[in-house]
Amino acid sequence: MSAADDNRLTAPGSDPAGSSESAALRPGTGSRLDRYLPRYAARAHSMTSSEIRALFAVASRPEVVSLAGGMPNLADLPLDAVGELAADLIAGSGRQSLQYGSGQGEPFLRELICDVMAVSGISAHADDVVVTVGSQQALDLVTRIFCDPGDVVVAEAPSYVGALGVFRSYQVGVAHVEMDDDGLIPELLDQALTALQAAGRRVKFLYTIPTFHNPAGVSLAPDRRREVARICREHDVFVVEDDPYGLLGFDATVHRPLRADDPDNVLYLGSFSKTFAPGTRIGWVLAPHGVREKLVLAQESATLCPPILSQHLIGRYLQTQDWMSQIKVFREMYRERRDAMLDSLSELMPAIHPDIRWTVPGGGFYVWLTLPAGMDAKAMQPRALSARVAYVSGTAFFADGFGSRSMRLSYCHPTPDRIREGVRRLAGVIRAETDIRALFGASSPDVLTDRQDQRGAAAAPDVAEGERAAPDPSVVRHGVRPGVRHGGDADGPGPATR
Ligand SMILES: Cc1ncc(COP(=O)(O)O)c(C=O)c1O
Repeated sequence: MSAADDNRLTAPGSDPAGSSESAALRPGTGSRLDRYLPRYAARAHSMTSSEIRALFAVASRPEVVSLAGGMPNLADLPLDAVGELAADLIAGSGRQSLQYGSGQGEPFLRELICDVMAVSGISAHADDVVVTVGSQQALDLVTRIFCDPGDVVVAEAPSYVGALGVFRSYQVGVAHVEMDDDGLIPELLDQALTALQAAGRRVKFLYTIPTFHNPAGVSLAPDRRREVARICREHDVFVVEDDPYGLLGFDATVHRPLRADDPDNVLYLGSFSKTFAPGTRIGWVLAPHGVREKLVLAQESATLCPPILSQHLIGRYLQTQDWMSQIKVFREMYRERRDAMLDSLSELMPAIHPDIRWTVPGGGFYVWLTLPAGMDAKAMQPRALSARVAYVSGTAFFADGFGSRSMRLSYCHPTPDRIREGVRRLAGVIRAETDIRALFGASSPDVLTDRQDQRGAAAAPDVAEGERAAPDPSVVRHGVRPGVRHGGDADGPGPATR
């Protein structure tokens, strides 16, 4: 959808909840931008474009170093080999690979997906795998079959922006639970589930990205994995484990997915977007047997079947190429970029302010950087774009407006040199901000912004609704302050990553 389309859905200044003063919303009147506006279903009003999409047009200009997007880097993909496979597939067996297929996905690919999952310790049967249009569609199908409007999903703080969009579109509330450098904090998860259930909220599942988190860059420690699984079981809440980056670790460690040890209470989501190519749009869900059946029905009503040409291409690729070696090539390429970012941050940031913190990812695509108290990464964004560097403000990764002190920096796409240049530009912007704050002290606009954020923390509803609900005073926010706690922070217990 283009920016213009976005405007049509939520015209600036319009009030989708309905206001008698808004001519645009009087039944049957529409607006000059979109005469269909009054006709949309309630769930369409909760669909808004993500901050990342809004940034995309500017961030993709060549003069801007984009640390914003999370596009996998395909520079090392063996295109000749993939091209030959594609040609063979069409010339040799086009009548099958261009035909409709099964709603559950091609049986031979589902077998191969089980081999891929076995690398991280999951033992699974192909019958329990449902192929999807990327793991994004898996998120959509899972939410569709389990969630009614007003239900609650528990998610990390911060969480994947695409998942938040899905939850919002199904009018599902999100309760965020804090992380530290070892991932989700089990005691806070326990507290959150206890409080939500005591308040009579219908908590459907925990949505978690335990390995190489997007956007936080951290991974759930092994002992915490057991704890999180136990807590969810005790509260009779299942887990949706989203694991697109699991094989992209920078050392030999393979993090054991929660699903490997808890097959009955975890729905596992996988994807070929980061380990092969996102344009094929192939992901999957591994689900307990009964759920599998409902997912196939939902898949058939959504697409009839996932794209068969892509499934055959990936299947052939896995059968004929040394895909594990290719994943190692990707890991190396991303590790070099991660190192470029971390080295530049260590070189430049401490001299600007000792309280600038960032996570140290062991894999995946992202670093989560938190500014000193009183600063606002969202307000700083236009200045950063003027300095020709782009990042995503932390607020994109919260359903409830928190995260303004943080930003996501992605290192997956630019070259190491461009990453260094991007961090240098960013450092200049942050330095200018801290200088302004030093000059104006407590009357600096950013200080006010931070105070407002803190007031928001006290008053904010714990559960951010798809359709924003009234604050729920019976539950407090689960954690001391929004976002990932970093080692070395006064109020954060985690290991000192930086
Ligand atoms: C955590 C997470 N889940 C799901 C997705 C969706 O991936 P895809 O639909 O390409 O498989 C992404 C993409 O960036 C992601 O980061």
